[in-house]
Amino acid sequence: MCGICACIGNFLCKDFIIDGLKKLEYRGYDSAGISFIDNNALKVIKTVGDIDALSKLAEGVKADAIIGHTRWATHGGVTVENAHPHLSKSGKLAIVHNGVIENYKDLKAQMDVEWKSSTDSEVFVNLIERQKEDCLIRKVISASKKVEGSFAIALLSADGEIVAGRRENPLYIAEVDGGFVATSDLYVLSEKTENYFALENDEFAVLKKSGVEFYDKNGEKIAKKQQKIEKFNKISAKFKNTHMESEIFEAKDVLEKTLDFYLKYGFSTIKIPKNLQEINFIACGTAYHSGLVAAEYFKKIGLPSHTYIASEFRYGNEVLNLNALYVFISQSGETADTIASAKLIKESGCKMLAVTNTQNCFLNQICQNVLPTFAGKEIAVASTKAYLAQVFSLYLFACFLGGRDVKEASDAVSKFEIVDFPDSLTQYALKFKKIIFVGRGLDYITALEASLKLKEISYINSIAIASGELKHGTLALVDNETLVVGILTQQKTREKFLTNLEEVKARGGEILLVSNCIEEGYNCLTLPNCAEDLMPIYSVVPLQIFALKMCKKLGFNPDKPRNLAKSVTVE
Ligand code: F6R
Repeated sequence: MCGICACIGNFLCKDFIIDGLKKLEYRGYDSAGISFIDNNALKVIKTVGDIDALSKLAEGVKADAIIGHTRWATHGGVTVENAHPHLSKSGKLAIVHNGVIENYKDLKAQMDVEWKSSTDSEVFVNLIERQKEDCLIRKVISASKKVEGSFAIALLSADGEIVAGRRENPLYIAEVDGGFVATSDLYVLSEKTENYFALENDEFAVLKKSGVEFYDKNGEKIAKKQQKIEKFNKISAKFKNTHMESEIFEAKDVLEKTLDFYLKYGFSTIKIPKNLQEINFIACGTAYHSGLVAAEYFKKIGLPSHTYIASEFRYGNEVLNLNALYVFISQSGETADTIASAKLIKESGCKMLAVTNTQNCFLNQICQNVLPTFAGKEIAVASTKAYLAQVFSLYLFACFLGGRDVKEASDAVSKFEIVDFPDSLTQYALKFKKIIFVGRGLDYITALEASLKLKEISYINSIAIASGELKHGTLALVDNETLVVGILTQQKTREKFLTNLEEVKARGGEILLVSNCIEEGYNCLTLPNCAEDLMPIYSVVPLQIFALKMCKKLGFNPDKPRNLAKSVTVE
């Protein structure tokens, strides 16, 4: 969360920074700012709002060294004062920071500074300035030893030097057009260069017009190897309204790519415990939901399987099994709670696997055993195509481990079509104050995901519940202002499920059914058919479109849901 971008060189620094911050906006979009040198002094321009607002304020800025930031507030509200960059007491040092300094209150108490903001980042830049060392890089390294928590930082000094460094949060360095760039995300560098350097934990870089130098935590110069940037998807020309829309409509592509890759290369590179007794999934949000679906697939091949919310798992009391495989699912590979859980498992010596959609991410580095997903870059905060890629890849992995044929998977992909969510049903749904999604088995998991998507981007009050649980409490919520969206693709519980819907009807609730069977007496969105286990892939897409249409009808931007950001790099 929060994106930083810094650059130095005789090229269009301001344009590069604005373009870079726009690409980083999905990491946070509460407020934004830049700092640069003007008449030998550091100048800061910052604003509440998005990068377009910043861009207007920064018109006419000419500088050959700039640091910039787009913020998702952690410490301190969304105000201009709390927006980055922050200046040190002397005004000779500016910082942009992504992360959380956990001991900032203690550090703050030791400093005599007239604080301009309530951020931990302002404390960090002052801590750096107070260090006795003789040059900026040594001051930064010295201060980094005194802070607890996570950071990716870029500092600009009034002498025109940029120092960058990181712990736990990502930071990449690259040469672009003869200048040098530090940024939170490789996406900023795509189409600008093919190579980059990845800073490791507690590594630092000095960026000058003449070149870049790298340092370890002891202040020793180190040599680093360049790596290649993967190609990022562009928004497809046909659906270029919003990232979310374009990403939903890439569904078939994603399924085809996943199938092609795993049919061609299989899963033989994945390390599995010899005596595999159990497979467990750990993730957050939408990735947690794909873990829930995956666990059902593995149970079906006879492997005990559990799915855990990472933020619970890391503080829980789970009894670990050395013969289990612990699978961490994460689109970004950066999610703080998932990373922390992976570190715990690593310490225990249990086998681990990362299911990620991002090249060279932290999770891959920790797990050293990776099942890649092929969704391509996902920009919209609400995860859509990545969910499909996770569910489908893990289905194929379960087939592989269970020695099962993948014919049903090939059929499901070849017959896959995007089922639109009709405007008439969207209009109908808009009249309700609450929307409850219900299902059973795999359909319950789709209900969880559909409800998350809806509340995330349209702010409609929504929950999901296993329909058999309704009468144990939640039925009390049902009245004539409630829409119950029932998902029905699993035959084993069909009759029971329909009885649950009747119980809703009897209490005045209205029902919208999403199903591959035609049921009389309901407003129904009909889905095409495929193998029952793969129906979550068919049913989730129209429900993603439902959330998108509700969001647009209510006048919100699906790519920038309030209070959220994409990569959740803080606890
Ligand atoms: C919801 C959503 C989030 C993410 C969650 C985990 O649409 O996108 O719930 O799924 O923050 O993110 P990753 O997969 O990057 O670990």
